[in-house]
Amino acid sequence: MRLPGSKSISNRVLLLAGLSEGTTTVRDLLDSDDTQVMLTALRTLGCRIVPEGAALRITGLGGRLGVREASLFLGNAGTAMRPLTAALAMLAATQGGRFELSGVPRMHERPIADLVDALRPLGCRVDYLGQTGYPPLRLLPGSDDLDLSVPIRVRGDVSSQFLTALLLALPLLTAKQTATIDIEGELISKPYIEITLNLLARFGVAVQREGWQRFVIPAGSRYRSPGDIHVEGDASSASYFIALGAIAATDTPLRIEGVGTDSIQGDIRFIDAAEAMGAEVAGGAGWIEVRRGRWPLTAIDIDCNAIPDAAMTLAVMALYADGPSRLRNIASWRVKETDRIAAMASELRKLGAGVVEGADFIEVTPPLHWTPAVVHTYDDHRVAMCFSLAAFNPLAEPPPAEPVPVRILDPKCVAKTFPDYFETLFSVVCTQADWIPVITIDGPTASGKGTLACAVADALGYHVLDSGVLYRATALAAIRSAVDADDKSALAALAEALDLAFEQGNVRLDGVDVSALLRHENVGTLASRISAFPAVRQALLRLQWSFRRLPGLVADGRDMGTVIFPDAPLKIYLTASADARARRRHQQLEAAGVSTTLESLLVGLQERDARDQNRTASPLKPAADAVLLDNSALSIESTVDAVLSYWSRRTPLA
Ligand code: DC
Repeated sequence: MRLPGSKSISNRVLLLAGLSEGTTTVRDLLDSDDTQVMLTALRTLGCRIVPEGAALRITGLGGRLGVREASLFLGNAGTAMRPLTAALAMLAATQGGRFELSGVPRMHERPIADLVDALRPLGCRVDYLGQTGYPPLRLLPGSDDLDLSVPIRVRGDVSSQFLTALLLALPLLTAKQTATIDIEGELISKPYIEITLNLLARFGVAVQREGWQRFVIPAGSRYRSPGDIHVEGDASSASYFIALGAIAATDTPLRIEGVGTDSIQGDIRFIDAAEAMGAEVAGGAGWIEVRRGRWPLTAIDIDCNAIPDAAMTLAVMALYADGPSRLRNIASWRVKETDRIAAMASELRKLGAGVVEGADFIEVTPPLHWTPAVVHTYDDHRVAMCFSLAAFNPLAEPPPAEPVPVRILDPKCVAKTFPDYFETLFSVVCTQADWIPVITIDGPTASGKGTLACAVADALGYHVLDSGVLYRATALAAIRSAVDADDKSALAALAEALDLAFEQGNVRLDGVDVSALLRHENVGTLASRISAFPAVRQALLRLQWSFRRLPGLVADGRDMGTVIFPDAPLKIYLTASADARARRRHQQLEAAGVSTTLESLLVGLQERDARDQNRTASPLKPAADAVLLDNSALSIESTVDAVLSYWSRRTPLA
């Protein structure tokens, strides 16, 4: 698998490119919620940002405000809020600007007082617009000459992002004077400071440091664009796949590309922790390969201060260990996207794990009895990603009596740093087909199955199978190659050899988009006729089964529940009165500019129903265990809601 770009590097590089003089081409940038808010902020501030192929060309402000007043919305991106606060406070003070910085409600609960307290003594004016100590903030003009003669003092033990923010902003002021930062308390998350220093050097600023106590930016330092910069893959995101390899790669190792053992990101040290638990890891520049070593994993007791984000992954790996694992020195978890210690504890307990939590540690004992769990994400991308690893419970030692399903609510919150996380995960794992959930929706023509299936699939993130399309495509292929409508074996051969591709709602037959053609009435009628032949139905079996892919499938047709997926945990039989269906079809056709009469449609529909219901091969009828749903008087929305609520009550997760 290939990793998306590092969030920490992406947002630092964007800000540096935005503040620098000159144009920077940024390659392999992460495209996610957090980088989008940074890009939007930079554009609002007057930076020119244009795509160049897959890269972005950013023309920086060169230390001069392009815009003197702006309101910036920064979502839940700490990597945008903290450094923009520092940089804009300094620019507002020295060049006369007024800026408001806000975010989502959770951002307004994430502390920023330590940074504000470091900025005010310089002469920066920062007002709290809500609760004291938290965003939203207003930054105002201050004293023209900010005073750097006294060392700036900042706490290091709450979030290293305060120091990063100062380090990224101060080169705006150091043309003529030296800036010194003194750290109060023990500096946490040092590897993130290393990333900051590394990138500052790439943009022409060499910071001197004395241990982790004092940082000096010498007079004469100012930003210069490196011209071209590449963002390495995200080491925190790599942790889920390193863990996956340690848990499940029993033959071939899982290869991870985009980040390697040469990474400048601190979270790459997650590899050491994974190895301590039993993973077998190999790596080089830009790649890592992981496979299972010891199994069950070995429980660990480890100081996670240097790998705060990736350490969440260890908490889930601990479910597969041979005893209790203790993750220490993680107080910063409490001020992240959510209170991560509380979140991890409560969700791990749902699975049956024993959890002890403290102010700055968590201890996880593997479940004696795994229990199905519905995992809340607290809008925290890392909670969503690391709990996906709990789905490997059938591999646990000892395994649960029955595989235990795990449902992750709001999986799309991974968009913060890894929008394709689940797609990437599903591309490297496989499971038994009968463990992949299927919802079948059968019913007569024009009952609204297709619309319902798409909406339900969209809500659940599942794949869709419109099986009628397969019969229609066979009919179209028959028309095109002039195969006789009664020649069963020739039709079956056509069905067997269909060259179909599905892309963004369109269907390609032999490489050509036939989506519109397939909906023609004559194609539908022929489909209905040839679908009565057992040989044709047989020929389409394997193709239909191949749609059963992770994370799940919604299949619509006539025999989805009775023949194709008889083990589906939820079967819907959707009907509506013939009148209601004829009216809907009539409206659809009118809207498409096709003129017909209601009467002729009604007759055609009833003929089609009769043929589908009375044929001997897989006749249209409700499965014995199907839920009958008559939607004659229901809106689409309420039909979808009805199915989703049946679904939430099915499955062992109810
Ligand atoms: O759902 P539809 O109108 O696109 O289906 C076209 C024809 O294909 C329908 O009249 C009957 C046949 N069909 C079938 O026999 N079995 C299915 N699972 C789906 C469709």
